[in-house]
Amino acid sequence: MPKFPDDFFFGASTSSHQIEGGNYNDWTEWEKKVSGVKAQAARDRHWPDYILNNYPNPLQTENYISGRAADHYNRFKEDFDIAQQLGHNAHRLSIEWSRVEPEQGEFDLKEIQHYKEVIAALRERGIEPFVTLWHWTLPVWLASGSGSAGAGEGGVRHEEFSDLFSRYAETMVEALGDSVKYWITLNEPEMYALNAYGRGIWPPGKRGIISFYKTLAALIEAHQEAYELIKDINKNAQVGVACNMVYFESAGGVVNNLLKWVAERAWNHHFIHHIKNELDFIGLNYYFHNRINYGLNKNKFEKVSDLGWDLYPQGIKNVLLDLKKYEKLIVITENGLADAEDTNRAWWIEESLKAVSEAITEGVDIQGYLHWSLLDNFEWDKGFWPRFGLIEVDYKTMERKIRPSVLEYKKHIQQQII
Ligand code: BGC
Repeated sequence: MPKFPDDFFFGASTSSHQIEGGNYNDWTEWEKKVSGVKAQAARDRHWPDYILNNYPNPLQTENYISGRAADHYNRFKEDFDIAQQLGHNAHRLSIEWSRVEPEQGEFDLKEIQHYKEVIAALRERGIEPFVTLWHWTLPVWLASGSGSAGAGEGGVRHEEFSDLFSRYAETMVEALGDSVKYWITLNEPEMYALNAYGRGIWPPGKRGIISFYKTLAALIEAHQEAYELIKDINKNAQVGVACNMVYFESAGGVVNNLLKWVAERAWNHHFIHHIKNELDFIGLNYYFHNRINYGLNKNKFEKVSDLGWDLYPQGIKNVLLDLKKYEKLIVITENGLADAEDTNRAWWIEESLKAVSEAITEGVDIQGYLHWSLLDNFEWDKGFWPRFGLIEVDYKTMERKIRPSVLEYKKHIQQQII
């Protein structure tokens, strides 16, 4: 069994829009527009029976509408009871901005109270909260650029975005006080900029390379401003950002090595490089391996997830070693796979933990591993069918079932913590 420091955090990650249910934000508006088209388009693909036999499946419109999601908003205590039974001592969640500031400048005290109760429920169970302030969803007033927020571009490209984000951050950091030590300002700014402003497959559906970089610049500014503010309010706060990073593997030779260097700079390091002076820890979200051989993604695909992603857990070690140069604490804030039948999850967890432990032995300062995800959830433009949960959710009855692989994860945790 791989070894970890005594104070290592083991747990899982979630995000508000993907599990809470009952949200009203820019995504819920987008879902209304695209769900029918997506269900239709899914008919052109072949789907294995084990995907089609689940509810909802990719051919159904409901698949693409977050709706009740996993009803975690009402069941968070029950879900945290399971996390506790599984031996978790840390948990990552996100606050839904659209709930706490449904209208510009008007904060909803009832919703703020809700998140206080969520944090208290974690603390009562001996679970350290990692709180993300923004995991991609936006209040509608901000996304549309309407109201007194001013006309013009909305969302993260709104000219006052960093101030608006900081005001929301300030409200939450003040409200939650000392009950939260670890704050994550933004989740995967690069993935968001790519899909929402580069490829146009997420709201607001913009495209272009310039649009991608301008969006990253806006998010860099938002992080920097929020970082200073959070540190002013809570001196003990540890503030990080969760970035998606890829193991780019060169097949060798000058051209491939050069391509690897460029890809790493453009994807893994761009954001972190700009904010390295306003950063207490790096949140690493690792899912992808990309073998470069006179082109990208020349992977072997020996094992794949239900989403067709190449499963290469050991690559997390290469990314971790590459992050050592920043001399920052690292927390693995996401790592997992869509695996409805739970065939590869135990193996994935075992290999990932081995790789993380080796990186620690080689001198990387790693403080925790948070698996994605605690529960099955709403996987953005793909909808509900990809199953990332340690806990399976029956979306008809909302019943929770622990997947067998999770017991393997628990064994690792027990060996370490108990
Ligand atoms: C995101 C999660 C998402 C997961 C699996 C990450 O990029 O932060 O919200 O569910 O990947 O795709």
